Amino acid sequence: MDALNLGKSRLINMLVKLPGKNMESRLRRWFHDPEKLLSGANISLGQTVLEVGCGTGFFTLTAAEIIGETGHLIALDPVSGYVERVEEKVRQAGLENVEVVRRDALATGLEAESVDVALLFGVLPFPTLPLDQLLPEMHRVLKPSGTLAVWLFPVSYGVPAWILQSGLFTDLGRQEGVFRYQRSGHPL
Ligand SMILES: C[S@@+](CC[C@H](N)C(=O)[O-])C[C@H]1O[C@@H](n2cnc3c(N)ncnc32)[C@H](O)[C@@H]1O
Repeated sequence: MDALNLGKSRLINMLVKLPGKNMESRLRRWFHDPEKLLSGANISLGQTVLEVGCGTGFFTLTAAEIIGETGHLIALDPVSGYVERVEEKVRQAGLENVEVVRRDALATGLEAESVDVALLFGVLPFPTLPLDQLLPEMHRVLKPSGTLAVWLFPVSYGVPAWILQSGLFTDLGRQEGVFRYQRSGHPL
């Protein structure tokens, strides 16, 4: 589905209304310190990072600060209200290394092998992000040395096992509650 229709679909609007304001609450920051969680993703200065399902930008500004001016953060979400909110936050923070895009992560339109780290933070499992379509797209956009960083909340169901079973990623372990995977050379 294209991002315009996906962003307007009843299913996604119903599901994103559930977390609603909690996505940005102070209490959440207390329980889920973005700096601490992002340290588990091993992102670093100068990298190109893709943030899938940025929502209202809970992780966006912190990730942008970590990768610095020489880095490039692509914050992606299909919901226009979220994209506008994150654009405003980025503008207010004066950050120039963030590109906020309204798009479906199943068809990012990004160049192949262009991303160092793909962040899947707080987005899985989600019915509009089926792993059998999402993982091949993440594998396509990641550089051969690229990694996938996955923080699962509130439940993980079988996500870590699914990722390994796909054969597209190998296990790099878990740090600060974040699962990390190396893009494998497996041909698609
Ligand atoms: C539970 S929210 C989490 C938002 C943010 N990562 C956070 O932790 O605050 C899930 C997000 O995934 C986005 N999403 C759902 N399906 C998507 C898709 N196919 N492509 C990109 N983002 C998607 C939703 O619009 C929503 O913003």
